[in-house]
Amino acid sequence: MKHRVTLLPGDGIGPEVCQATRQVIEAAGTEIEWEIVEAGTEAIKKYGTPLPEQVLESIKQNKVALKGPVTTPVGEGFQSVNVALRKQLNLFANVRPINSKYGISERYLNVDMVIVRENTEDVYSGLEQDIAPGVAQTLKIITRTASERIARFAFEYARKYQRKTVQAVHKANIMKKSDGLFLQCCRTVAANYPDIQYKEIIVDNCAMQMVMRPQQFDVMVMTNLYGDIISDLGAGLVGGLGLVPGVNYGEDLAVFEAVHGSAPDIAGKNIANPLALILSAELMLRYLGEETAANHLKHAVIVLLTERQHLTPDMGGTATTNELTEVLIREILH
Ligand code: NAI
Repeated sequence: MKHRVTLLPGDGIGPEVCQATRQVIEAAGTEIEWEIVEAGTEAIKKYGTPLPEQVLESIKQNKVALKGPVTTPVGEGFQSVNVALRKQLNLFANVRPINSKYGISERYLNVDMVIVRENTEDVYSGLEQDIAPGVAQTLKIITRTASERIARFAFEYARKYQRKTVQAVHKANIMKKSDGLFLQCCRTVAANYPDIQYKEIIVDNCAMQMVMRPQQFDVMVMTNLYGDIISDLGAGLVGGLGLVPGVNYGEDLAVFEAVHGSAPDIAGKNIANPLALILSAELMLRYLGEETAANHLKHAVIVLLTERQHLTPDMGGTATTNELTEVLIREILH
């Protein structure tokens, strides 16, 4: 069966890792008709907006998208396309599996955690203002609706994938109202899932525990900002941002994207690690029902990581993006 999928190559290393991912998917035998759309700086030049309507329309129609990273200017300029996309399509749950099986770190073995990040609110609501000279304000918005929805999602995920624990990560000792509400919602939802153990942890302790003994973590659910930071920490445990995949889920939409950003420092040099997006594509293939192709892809990545002969510089090797991709393709066709 041929699938129709929206492809948003993004910018920076986005087009390079997207190209590699397309080649690997093709080798795995899945036929995809890509609908390519643009967002970010290039879109502003062409359409006068960083997130043109056709991007949203294409994803709504195809229901599945593969997305490269999009640069967001720091401290000025347009608001994050990534945040806007998640909000406008109501992609409320961001799932980031962190697994040392897909890693190259020798420091941490048997890590297998899943970060479930609320994607639509918190300090990412874009509600900011200068109150007075030298005083700025950003509002943190937490609602019962979004908190219960993400908690339910985390518990359903745990059930579906036979996980034992869901742990809420919070700072309700300090933010008694906002994080307090989030925690209250997690507790309410947890009561409906007696088969799954429910735990709580304060975010600063969580960061320390992840570095000391990451094997203790299973499914973790948290608000937007903590999810953003904690998932980069998790990526660091298994070998870096080039290895961790992700998915943004809405009610009936899914946008697959790596955890990493556009990495402008290495863009255009043919040294970006495409594995994070390729592993996101593995998740996408499973979502599309293409289990065999997904298994081929997963197997090829594991062989590549085990042999350690063709790794990109971020993983301590000297291979280019193209070389790594060719090795994966050879392994898949083998
Ligand atoms: P980043 O993830 O782009 O890069 C952080 C560091 O990791 C850099 O040294 C980079 O070279 C390295 N790195 C990241 N991905 C890599 C890969 N696949 N292979 C090898 N090395 C890799 O984070 P940074 O620098 O904070 O953000 C750069 C831009 O990306 C910003 O404009 C940010 O807003 C945007 N961004 C976009 C995201 C998205 O589209 N979902 C997510 C995160 C950041």
